[in-house]
Amino acid sequence: MFDRIASVYDLMNSVMTAGMHHRWRERAADLARVGPGSTALDVATGTGDLAVELARRGAEVTGSDFAPAMLEIARRKAPGLSFEEGDALNLAQADDSFDAVTVGFGARNFADLDRGLSEMARVAKPGGRVVVLEITTPTKPPLSWFFKAWFDRVVPELGRLAGDPDAYTYLPSSVRRFPGPEELAARMAAAGLTDVRWILTAGGIIAIHAGTKPA
Ligand SMILES: C[S@@+](CC[C@H](N)C(=O)[O-])C[C@H]1O[C@@H](n2cnc3c(N)ncnc32)[C@H](O)[C@@H]1O
Repeated sequence: MFDRIASVYDLMNSVMTAGMHHRWRERAADLARVGPGSTALDVATGTGDLAVELARRGAEVTGSDFAPAMLEIARRKAPGLSFEEGDALNLAQADDSFDAVTVGFGARNFADLDRGLSEMARVAKPGGRVVVLEITTPTKPPLSWFFKAWFDRVVPELGRLAGDPDAYTYLPSSVRRFPGPEELAARMAAAGLTDVRWILTAGGIIAIHAGTKPA
């Protein structure tokens, strides 16, 4: 599906979020706590926007994804970064390799969330950070009403205009079935991470979780 929508993916993100997704990625990159001399792996990197944000902080970044058409756009966007094909549920990287391991809007798409989180924890260095940026379902009105109308009506319509109604009907349904912030934190802890905390932003539509691999 992501290979199919790769050419419209970045534009759709900007339209659907009024450009705010860049700010959310900045906050996720802040929580990764990387800088010059750090190494970071961005799994399910797609077109590479979160990888670029990590690299802006001076980290040496690898982005991996299993959709070649998404990676092609990432490579064009950031020729200086390393992008490779890889399955987030079965990472090729060795244990204890990265100062930070991140995923932006990808965990929701993992066929096995717990396995994906365990893999992220496995390849993080002891003391390293694991960061998950995701859409979450706001529970408090009036934002919950707005969110429902936006996701159930406007987003599929935008998807139809962009030529792929199925992908943009899948998007709200994947958000609905994704665990809420507390459960996601518990599942990150079950994957072996400690000190798991999260922030909610954009009125409770975006959750950014971060945990640390025990030293
Ligand atoms: C919604 S896009 C997010 C892309 C990017 N991280 C971003 O922030 O815009 C989800 C991405 O997850 C990738 N993906 C889903 N499951 C994956 C897996 N098991 N291994 C690698 N990539 C995966 C898809 O190919 C797609 O590029």
